[in-house]
Amino acid sequence: MNNNIREVLIAEEPLKKRIKEMGAEITKDYAGKELLVIGILKGAVYFMTELTQAIDLPTQIDFIRVSSYGSGTNSSGNVKISFDTTKNIAGKDVLLLDDIVDTGQTLNAVREFFIARNVNSVKIATMLDKKERRLVKMLPDYSGFIIPDEFVVGFGLDYDEEYRTLPYIGILKQEVYGK
Ligand code: IMP
Ligand code: MG
Repeated sequence: MNNNIREVLIAEEPLKKRIKEMGAEITKDYAGKELLVIGILKGAVYFMTELTQAIDLPTQIDFIRVSSYGSGTNSSGNVKISFDTTKNIAGKDVLLLDDIVDTGQTLNAVREFFIARNVNSVKIATMLDKKERRLVKMLPDYSGFIIPDEFVVGFGLDYDEEYRTLPYIGILKQEVYGK
């Protein structure tokens, strides 16, 4: 285990198993449709590869990048799309993916951007949900695990761009981010 990790919160096996279940659920819900899965860079990348391989439907993928002018372990409400989808998405059934919903501000803003673009539908899937930290109304349509208010890293989640490549969700030692 990485030295800066206090505890493994979700090990690789249960994490992947749960993501596969989410894929099966999405496959059922969207039966007969084509799906456009849009991942929010960079955090959603590991979740996205696992999830999309478990979705048995005609599926396209794309990415966006958002900046939220926050620092350290907090994001802010000021969300902008800094890298956009490469194709016209009008009329599509869009499934937005992120690694974690915390205050809810990021996905809330991104969802509004997409609704304004005449898509057929927008739903949200998140790997993790820190429910008790919510500042705006944001109920993901698909959620992998509800987790406590701890700063976690791994499987795409970073602290200062590190730890994304860990194959599990770990709680970062507090001395690492100086809280
Ligand atoms: P929100 O806008 O507050 O919901 O923040 C969502 C974003 O904050 C996520 O996409 C993550 O990039 C980041 N974030 C929130 N909590 C954590 C965490 O525990 N570890 C790593 N990143 C986090
Ligand atoms: Mg992040």
